[in-house]
Amino acid sequence: MSISFPAKLTERLAAAESVCVLTGSGVSAESGVPTFRDAQTGLWAKFEPEALATMEAFQRNPSMIWDWYEWRRKLVRQAKPNAAHYALANMESLFPRFSLITQNVDGLHQAAGSQKMIEFHGNIMRTICADEGCVIEDYDASQSPPPCPRCAAYLRPDVVWFGEAIDQGSLDKAIALADECDVFFAIGTSAQVQPAAGLAEVAMQAGACVVEINPQRTVLSKRANFALHGAAGEVLPLLIETLTPALSRN
Ligand code: OAD
Repeated sequence: MSISFPAKLTERLAAAESVCVLTGSGVSAESGVPTFRDAQTGLWAKFEPEALATMEAFQRNPSMIWDWYEWRRKLVRQAKPNAAHYALANMESLFPRFSLITQNVDGLHQAAGSQKMIEFHGNIMRTICADEGCVIEDYDASQSPPPCPRCAAYLRPDVVWFGEAIDQGSLDKAIALADECDVFFAIGTSAQVQPAAGLAEVAMQAGACVVEINPQRTVLSKRANFALHGAAGEVLPLLIETLTPALSRN
């Protein structure tokens, strides 16, 4: 694949002191983890993910929702980071300040080596007590859902469901990072879910250069300074390759 990046973009990046990246499920698509809105295959194809990822759905049918997450955890366990995850992990050392905010709950950024990151929507591999919110590591996995060994309430995945609030500390930090960056990337996200989608707006209002990487157009495409249409696993390594000579001169 060959992409030529606009000179204005590479100049802006070469001069950037602070880069902030927001990722969505498109970044894991090339690892074989279906994107959030394309996620339903096989047995789950008839369900909308928005109808499953809610407390109401869990209260109505805890066993079904636990089984859906078991299915997703199985997909994630088989997945390996792809070139986009590795490129983002490399980017940490290329800029004086770099931060990664991910909406993904699959842990693949950490598996690729990313450290400076916020898991905005939690992590599917972590399990919490649905009543007390504490993390539970040992439980009876043969039950669906397993009971909390402390209080017997149901256990649930430590992810943010529709209608639930993002952890306030993570939200405040993400807004501050978007507000102070020189370049903001939105990668592999349909930019539909708030408050994550609003971070690009925060960056834009603060004068950052906003760059989207996505094979499809999204609601953000026409507002972004640059919309790079392609797969993250192809675009990001090429972008780093193009930038490296300019960055190593700095
Ligand atoms: P979506 O499924 O809404 O969007 C995925 C985006 O990735 C789409 O715009 C695709 O075009 C794009 N895409 C697909 N393949 C790609 C590739 N190889 N490279 C780059 N982009 C690609 O997923 P999100 O925007 O992540 O939250 O959804 C946001 C949140 O909605 C999710 O985190 C989920 C839900 O609320 C929770 O489950 C907590």
